[in-house]
Amino acid sequence: MAREDLTNAKRAKKDEFYTMLDDIALELKHYKPYFKDKVVFCNCDDPYESNFFKYFALNFNSFGLKKLIATCFNGSPIAGDELPLVFDITDEEPKKTAYKVEISEVKDYNGDGAVNLTDVQYLIQNDKNVLSLLKGNGDFRSPECIELLKEADIVVTNPPFSLFREFVGMLDKYNKDFVIMGNTNTLVCKEVFKMFKEDRIRTGYTHFNTGMFFYVPDTFDKYHHIEDGRKVARVSTSCWYTNLPVEKHNEFLDLYKHYTPEEYPKYDNYDAVNVDTYRDIPCDYDGVMGVPITFLDKYNPNQFEIIWQASGNTYANAPKEILEELKFNPNIKYGGGLGAPVLNGKATYTRVLIRRRQPKAVPYEASESPVPMAAEGNE
Ligand SMILES: C[S@@+](CC[C@H](N)C(=O)[O-])C[C@H]1O[C@@H](n2cnc3c(N)ncnc32)[C@H](O)[C@@H]1O
Repeated sequence: MAREDLTNAKRAKKDEFYTMLDDIALELKHYKPYFKDKVVFCNCDDPYESNFFKYFALNFNSFGLKKLIATCFNGSPIAGDELPLVFDITDEEPKKTAYKVEISEVKDYNGDGAVNLTDVQYLIQNDKNVLSLLKGNGDFRSPECIELLKEADIVVTNPPFSLFREFVGMLDKYNKDFVIMGNTNTLVCKEVFKMFKEDRIRTGYTHFNTGMFFYVPDTFDKYHHIEDGRKVARVSTSCWYTNLPVEKHNEFLDLYKHYTPEEYPKYDNYDAVNVDTYRDIPCDYDGVMGVPITFLDKYNPNQFEIIWQASGNTYANAPKEILEELKFNPNIKYGGGLGAPVLNGKATYTRVLIRRRQPKAVPYEASESPVPMAAEGNE
């Protein structure tokens, strides 16, 4: 195999993780009201294989969707017929071809009152639904897929991991709502972190830091177990990202610890104190604090402000004013890139630098007729 093909194949291998229907259902049920009358685009999804397509086809009417679009990419050297077909449409399955499916109506052909898998088999026989070939290879960045993106309201998929940053950048550029599968390793990458800071992305409801299982192609040597004849691999760092509202990000963390200089030492290279877990964030420290990146799953922008991150990339990416505000000392370096937090001469893990928002003072209004306290058990 030529070197370039080998690199592509290696990259593609990282990308061929197929999401399970149960995991999709567990997450997406929380966003139902946001889907009414919306065009959903699954732009890394072969409709014959993707459980995202399947989920939305099955829930088309209960979600009140206006349209469901899925595009299939044919550029992967290992994508194709390794996976059993979800819909089992045997005759006209357009394998290894880039195509799109546009669903505008899901009828209950059985007349049994429920839209089930059998109905989905008839989807593309409906005049209102179209399966057509794409001109290009179905790359989510191609002009024809971008045109579909423009038409869409919400993008929902598990994009290729190797292109995740580009994928998110594109959603951001076209200002689209999204619920997508990602990886906690990308929480602090430049593009994603900036969106966290500006409250334009947040973690979803399920599976943060718990690990998830995915179907992988038969050609994978490493896998966790076999399920229904298919290889299943575990990814410990998977997580959901969205810009739709997520309740936990409106909840205030209970802060019960008090600041002491001994328990919360300052970094050598930042004017910020170290906090080892989000649970230990002190309730009375007004300055900048460095917390583990898992904090982002608890982040409530009304309670905290994200200043920046302390990581090997900080120096290259942070605006000058922020480095000044943080009193960053570039002369103190410990391994890695310039910017990793250094504590007593040793580098610590990447930290998110945050500050508590000051609670707004609520003017006290004395009640005109105070309610007397009832004495218990005295009636
Ligand atoms: C992580 S898999 C997930 C597939 C499906 N969304 C799911 O969750 O089951 C990513 C998919 O994106 C496809 N892909 C890779 N590069 C792509 C690109 N540039 N444009 C669109 N899809 C791509 C891969 O072939 C793969 O099927």
